[in-house]
Amino acid sequence: MSSIKQLLDNNRVWAQELTRQTPDFFPRLAVQQSPDYLWIGCSDSRVPANEIVGLLPGEIFVHRNIANVVVHTDLNCLSVLQYAVEILRVKHVIICGHYGCGGIRAALENTEHGLIDNWLRHIKDVHRYYEDEIEREPDPEKRCSLLCEKNVVEQVANVCHTTIVQNAWKSGMDLTVHGWVYGLRDGLVHDLEVSVDGLDQLRATHQLK
Ligand code: CO
Repeated sequence: MSSIKQLLDNNRVWAQELTRQTPDFFPRLAVQQSPDYLWIGCSDSRVPANEIVGLLPGEIFVHRNIANVVVHTDLNCLSVLQYAVEILRVKHVIICGHYGCGGIRAALENTEHGLIDNWLRHIKDVHRYYEDEIEREPDPEKRCSLLCEKNVVEQVANVCHTTIVQNAWKSGMDLTVHGWVYGLRDGLVHDLEVSVDGLDQLRATHQLK
């Protein structure tokens, strides 16, 4: 059996099983979605949003790219964020990086990779912000882990600095932005405890009054 046929077979089994457990599952979801969470994570196949946090279809809105980067000129990511915040009215935005991230590792090296080097530049910028702290660490693996964490911290800030999130707070919306890192070795999520839930917690230069 070709591997692609296997996927379609898997799909039939999955849909039948969900329908057996909850007969109106798909008809109900087809009408509308109302997730409380937006997940911004890495494209890495080992970091599947729904499975990690035990949520079903309809329960988490997802955007993934290489190394979970939020760039304020990326219309793709911003459109997802705007839709999630203004239309779906999610209550939480989760930036979830992961240890052992290939994008982060590549950003720490000097090898040329082509087009993607332009994307990795954003992570090299994060490295520059925390260069003293990261380069003080003698173990290369720990340097990589530290940059994975710092990258999440910066992406939390990038989400908070958007007009989308700032306007949500100004309108009185209850919205919290969280920074997490997932461990590939144990399947556990670590909360970096850098959550932000209001305009007053942003750097003064980035607050849009
Ligand atoms: Co990754």
